[in-house]
Amino acid sequence: MRTQVAIIGAGPSGLLLGQLLFKAGIDAVIVERQSAQHVLSRIRAGILEQVTADLLDEAGVGRRMHEEGLVHTGFDLLWHDQRNRIDLGRLTGGSKVICYGQTEVTRDLMQARGAAGLKTFYSAANVAVHDFDTAQPRVSFEVDGVAQTLECDFIAGCDGFHGVCRASVPRAAVREFERVYPFGWLGLLSDTPPVHHELIYINSRRGFALCSQRSLTRSRYYLQVPLSDKVEQWSDEAFWDELRLRLDEPARERLVTGPSLEKSIAPLRSFVTEPLRFGRMFLAGDAGHIVPPTGAKGLNLAASDVKYLSSALIEYYVEHASAGIDTYSERCLRRIWRGERFSWWFTQLMHQFPEQGEIHARFQQAELEYLLHSEAGQRTIAENYVGLPLDFGA
Ligand code: APR
Ligand code: PHB
Repeated sequence: MRTQVAIIGAGPSGLLLGQLLFKAGIDAVIVERQSAQHVLSRIRAGILEQVTADLLDEAGVGRRMHEEGLVHTGFDLLWHDQRNRIDLGRLTGGSKVICYGQTEVTRDLMQARGAAGLKTFYSAANVAVHDFDTAQPRVSFEVDGVAQTLECDFIAGCDGFHGVCRASVPRAAVREFERVYPFGWLGLLSDTPPVHHELIYINSRRGFALCSQRSLTRSRYYLQVPLSDKVEQWSDEAFWDELRLRLDEPARERLVTGPSLEKSIAPLRSFVTEPLRFGRMFLAGDAGHIVPPTGAKGLNLAASDVKYLSSALIEYYVEHASAGIDTYSERCLRRIWRGERFSWWFTQLMHQFPEQGEIHARFQQAELEYLLHSEAGQRTIAENYVGLPLDFGA
């Protein structure tokens, strides 16, 4: 079997890349380790920057996002029992974000791919990438016990943090940067109306909390918990009781609780691989970098990688020019490091770090006081939250 671009992984990165290439008349086949149903069962952050929303429109999959997504022009930051609204619209000259679950983005992309009759191999076993340092890369895998080989011009490693692409690069060819945070996020999804019409990010003495949402009738909440906690230790009642303790009085009164549809603990990590190109193989999305979820940057950084990569490949096939390919890694990494810095900074601003001692708490307190009482401080938060344009600093 032969294709122009072999895409490994059918998460949002791989599916979006496939769709943008299809629109440009470039042939791509996706190989995914899991079943489609499994891919759709994963629950992840749901805040789309304008750049990401525009890209979904460009890919022709934005209809439901516009119909069902909730436009947010700000969010609340709760600290010391005081709500501070970060007015994204006012502080950034009209920018907004769209609250639309990543699972739904994935569903829309899957549907578009299916409707266009494009090939995706799901439940592929033993996926391996070969010869990406030559002009004839290959991907091998098995489906239903039958061995398959996919010959291609390029391999796009969209296979997430635990994927095979990054792992196949010789150790000496990569540099990895990593920070693992000493806590996790316990998330709960429930069919209850959200406690507030926008998000509330909470720095409480008991630990961080986040009130998010998926729709007007479905809520997503998170609590900072010790890494040693197991999800089985947290009954729904215990979750709601702890959340109440981290809210302010108005939110406590409005909070509607109900049975969880899903509950899980996710670790928090900052991680970057350099470079993101190895001959004819590229890494995009979680395969190349991870952010802690505090700024909701994961999907947005993945989307900008995919935009740079699709543009580079289109330039290669249509204009027979390789400048986009040659600068892919550098271009992505500039934007990635900006997102990484903000996600790290916002994480350390909003969580409790008891192991860092009282001095860290005092620094944090002084920084929050400064930021929330300064127009410039609030703008710093807002500008980073709504995200950079794709051609920033160019
Ligand atoms: N072979 C084929 N597919 C694989 C392999 C493999 N060896 N390993 C992993 N995969 C698949 C996974 O099953 C998954 O479906 O690659 C896909 C990667 O998808 P994601 O982890 O969702 O990564 P990505 O598409 O880059 O999306 C980034 O996800 O984690 C969030 O915050 C992150 O929002 C960001 C988004
Ligand atoms: C979510 O809705 O899951 C979500 C929203 C914002 C974040 C993280 C997660 O910063």
